[in-house]
Amino acid sequence: MAQTTPDTGRLIGFPLARIDGPKKVTGTAPYAAEHHPQGCLHGFVTTATIGRGRITRLDLADAAAVPGVVKIYTHENRPRTAWWDRSWKDEVALPGHPFRPLENDRILFDGQPVALVIAETFEAARDAAALIRVSYAAEEPTTDLSAARQDAYVPKQKRNGIAPPPPPRGEPQAAYDRAPHRISAEYWLEGEHHNPMELFGSTVIYEGEGRLTVHDKTQGSQNVQGYLCGIFELQPENVRVYNYFVGGAFGSGLRPGHQVFLATLAALDLRRSVKLELSRQEMFYMRWRPATVQSVKMAADAEGHLVAILHDAIAATSVHEDYQETVVNWSGLAYRCDNVQLSYELAAMNVSTPGDMRAPGAATGFVALECAIDELSYAVGLDPLEMRVLNFVHVDQNEDLQLTSKALHACYREGAARFGWAQRSPKPRSMRDGQDLIGWGMATGIWEATLTQATARARLSKGGKVAVSAAASDIGTGTWTVLAQVGADAFGVLPQQVTVEIGDSSLPKTSVEGGSWTAASTGSAVQAAARAVQATLLRHARTMPGSPLAELSVEQTAIRGGRLVMEINDQAGVALDDILDAAGLSFIEEEAEVAPDAAQAKTFVSYTHSGIFVEVRIDDEVGVIRVSRVVIAVAAGRILNPKTARSQILGGVVMGIGMALHEEGMTDHRLGRIMNHNLAEYHIPAHADIADIDVIFVEEHDAMASPLGVKGLGEIGIVGVAAAVANAIYHATGTRVRHFPITIDKVLFAKEAAE
Ligand code: MOS
Repeated sequence: MAQTTPDTGRLIGFPLARIDGPKKVTGTAPYAAEHHPQGCLHGFVTTATIGRGRITRLDLADAAAVPGVVKIYTHENRPRTAWWDRSWKDEVALPGHPFRPLENDRILFDGQPVALVIAETFEAARDAAALIRVSYAAEEPTTDLSAARQDAYVPKQKRNGIAPPPPPRGEPQAAYDRAPHRISAEYWLEGEHHNPMELFGSTVIYEGEGRLTVHDKTQGSQNVQGYLCGIFELQPENVRVYNYFVGGAFGSGLRPGHQVFLATLAALDLRRSVKLELSRQEMFYMRWRPATVQSVKMAADAEGHLVAILHDAIAATSVHEDYQETVVNWSGLAYRCDNVQLSYELAAMNVSTPGDMRAPGAATGFVALECAIDELSYAVGLDPLEMRVLNFVHVDQNEDLQLTSKALHACYREGAARFGWAQRSPKPRSMRDGQDLIGWGMATGIWEATLTQATARARLSKGGKVAVSAAASDIGTGTWTVLAQVGADAFGVLPQQVTVEIGDSSLPKTSVEGGSWTAASTGSAVQAAARAVQATLLRHARTMPGSPLAELSVEQTAIRGGRLVMEINDQAGVALDDILDAAGLSFIEEEAEVAPDAAQAKTFVSYTHSGIFVEVRIDDEVGVIRVSRVVIAVAAGRILNPKTARSQILGGVVMGIGMALHEEGMTDHRLGRIMNHNLAEYHIPAHADIADIDVIFVEEHDAMASPLGVKGLGEIGIVGVAAAVANAIYHATGTRVRHFPITIDKVLFAKEAAE
């Protein structure tokens, strides 16, 4: 029987069930909109019904007459807020003019908030919002990427933390022109709309003049705190933001949402608590994964070695901000190639500003890269997996950097073995089961392993009670649980003896939870804080009469079985409670910080890697596509908790299947309006869409990626998945579909065209 309770010696790497799980499954974990302050008012937003233009008239009479309506905010009566753009820039803001709800009469995109109704009840607010009549002077909107790409531009100002494409190397075009095997293709991805289970919501509790407690759906409580203080000129010590529980976010909650701005605006103006939760429909008007068009030219020599890669991407952005992500750079580092040319441009459109969505840029770029190398493998006549193995590279050629580790061969080997790849029939359309065509495809995935600056506090109290805290978030990733494990491991106690405090802006400083960096960064900070407590314990223990630890340095000690002991001989030591007693203390608390190693970064870079193997079954007559099997092998350094880790990868794969087959943002370009309004016609994979997903973590030891040896897992699970599905569809049908999502109509049309 599998062990379900850990022992203190083996906490890291133990598949501990989520410590927040019981609260979540019993409905007692309050999410942002589930706090109920006394006398709370409710808000509802009225959204624009044109894609571009001006508001010419607002008729609020019917809305204002709804019983219970307290106030209606529009651009005509909005209270004063900060003037300068810099006051509106959150930690992860973009170059450009941050969106200010109700700023003026301009409509920049469909669904833009044009009014906020505040009422005594949610129902009154919603009814009144529907009765607001807005007249517009509509202008012709730009929403079609195929047209807007004509005016694509290189962003003038780069986004913080996002590297522009590297300069070209070698002679890409010449090498391409003279190569014996070449492919050239254009790949389209429709936009995807964030739809985590929890909607965007904020409960803003008015605590008195200039003092607020805010429960917000966000990936960074301190980011929201800073944002609100900047806009409303509040003092940070008077604004406390909580995000204890977050019902999924995937990047949608990195930047503060407009709901928190609007709820705060009303709360400060009315001096009352206000709750505002957006509707599912409004999710489609917020940050989204931008539509992209990517062109790839790729060439190989007679044996299949890559000799040229040219990859250009054009991505949608809004007219007011230059959203940027790393789309094409991957093509310069995933495989060995000496002739590379990459470009990345934006096309401004009348859309809300795109935002990060799980593995932003990589999820997109790897669709083109991994489909292209697959196409080229057929041109060369090599097995797609052999093609990738042949072109393995152990450095980052873009930056001329060494890698801290890259166990990708192990991913390929273990993934292929588990999948049974060796039984694959190489010819497309050659595997069948009755009416089903069967296709086997694969892809590589890569994502950044990042350590960010993070601070944490650790406290050891009498009786072996431990508390660890940091302003980190758990957006469904397992932060609560892995921090308990790291804290328990450091003090040699069980996780149930550890209290974890996160999701509160007053706790030690961390960055937003994103980029797959929280476990590595906050986890390492917790470990460092625990180490600092150990050093303080030793300092006290050394002065105790007859102390066996008197001569030791902290590195020569360990905490085991409630005692501070000599590392090499745990018979020699002092009980922790005795140390505290001798020092006259009831607890010891220390804070510590971790930060990226700037010297190391001059020579080394860290990535996580994966090999994904997919089986599809496609009904040859009606084109129904089923992903019947996925094997994904991941190399991500040390795995803190195989259970929460596996869940991260499962979620990533499911989202990748959605990207490949289902999720499709649709716009009526004549009106510039988004046609998706709910999860009925914006399909996210449901249980019926998902069959077998087998997750393998290959062994990878990497002491350089982070002090804990952790690389991060939130995003690697999606990268490459959509390409692996597309490659399997090609193998099944013999026709390439390069427009995502690959829906039934496209498969049938391709089949017809081929016949
Ligand atoms: Mo992630 S897209 O950085 O939440």
